Amino acid sequence: MEILAFGVQADERPLIESAFAGHHEVRCLSVFLDEDTAPIAAGHEIISTSVNADLNPRVLQTLAAGGTQLIAQRSTGFNNIDLDVAERLGLTVARVSYYSPYSVAEFAWTLAMAVNRRIVRAATRTRDFDFRLDGLMGRDLRGRTVGVLGTGKIGEAFTRIAHGFGMRLLGWDVAENPACVELGMTYVPKEQLLAESDLVTLHVPLLPETRRLIDADALKAMKDDAILVNSSRGGLIDTAALVAELREGRFTGVGLDVYEAEAGLFFLDRSLEAVDDDTLARLVTFPNVLVTSHQAYYTEDAVGQIIDATVRNVLDYTAGRRSENVLVPRS
Ligand SMILES: NC(=O)c1ccc[n+]([C@@H]2O[C@H](COP(=O)([O-])OP(=O)(O)OC[C@H]3O[C@@H](n4cnc5c(N)ncnc54)[C@H](O)[C@@H]3O)[C@@H](O)[C@H]2O)c1
Repeated sequence: MEILAFGVQADERPLIESAFAGHHEVRCLSVFLDEDTAPIAAGHEIISTSVNADLNPRVLQTLAAGGTQLIAQRSTGFNNIDLDVAERLGLTVARVSYYSPYSVAEFAWTLAMAVNRRIVRAATRTRDFDFRLDGLMGRDLRGRTVGVLGTGKIGEAFTRIAHGFGMRLLGWDVAENPACVELGMTYVPKEQLLAESDLVTLHVPLLPETRRLIDADALKAMKDDAILVNSSRGGLIDTAALVAELREGRFTGVGLDVYEAEAGLFFLDRSLEAVDDDTLARLVTFPNVLVTSHQAYYTEDAVGQIIDATVRNVLDYTAGRRSENVLVPRS
């Protein structure tokens, strides 16, 4: 059987092809799955999709009408999939429930340190043989306070590194993580975490109740010189409100690996087109803001684990086995 994989990056292609070798044929497409590309799936019982696929009801209907029965999503997050509609259409949807949380936690730290120590500005200057230090002053993190919103697998990995830096650890989550408590984390209400933290990092999933967790009020509650990092999902932050605060000169640095309107932008080369997203265009002009293109997970280790799990999801489906990775059918 030929599996059709959408949204495959050039680095990923050989890994996907060798992981499926001996099991199934796989055809890798660089285009993402959306309403325009969904008809390509016709005749493929099994497809695999990437994190920025748009699995809305119309796309799901096109897939079902074309004979697709399994969608193997190559990510943990599944906020891009209308699961109710998928289930109603009789589709099976599987995701990757676990892969290296260190990939994302280490990248969140990379963003935090890059904005704290002005690395992008420094590198731009030295390329131009400008070796002044003006405007490059950062801060020691030892003894400062980090606030971790969401202390699951990635939040815990982030916290372990913060512990290594010698930081005071504050956490906020619906459930306390004993490993974080053991590291010395104190769980506090969100408002207190925002008010006391020098570095705020987001690791909760995007859910109706977490959408715009960092809204205008939350931003106002933060210290003027705080660092904010989001490597979870763009919808956790009200980006327009963030731009408004940045215009006031607030925040030492903001590192964003995700953006609420990233679909149709991130993972693509849009450099030759007119910019039609004024919020993102403004955001990238602030010297204390660093935006990356949803690359936190993009390590050899994590991508290898994602692909291996996707192959297992396909083999489980063809063998009629159910695993914890199956999102729908729900039972
Ligand atoms: N940028 C990237 O490349 C990338 C890659 C992987 C994951 N992510 C994001 O990171 C998120 C976290 O991943 P994880 O593996 O740590 O997940 P996880 O499930 O291990 O942890 C999530 C934590 O959020 C908490 N939580 C859930 N709902 C909450 C709520 N309403 N209020 C407060 N806390 C709540 C949970 O209790 C849990 O501790 C994912 O959902 C995904 O959005 C981003």
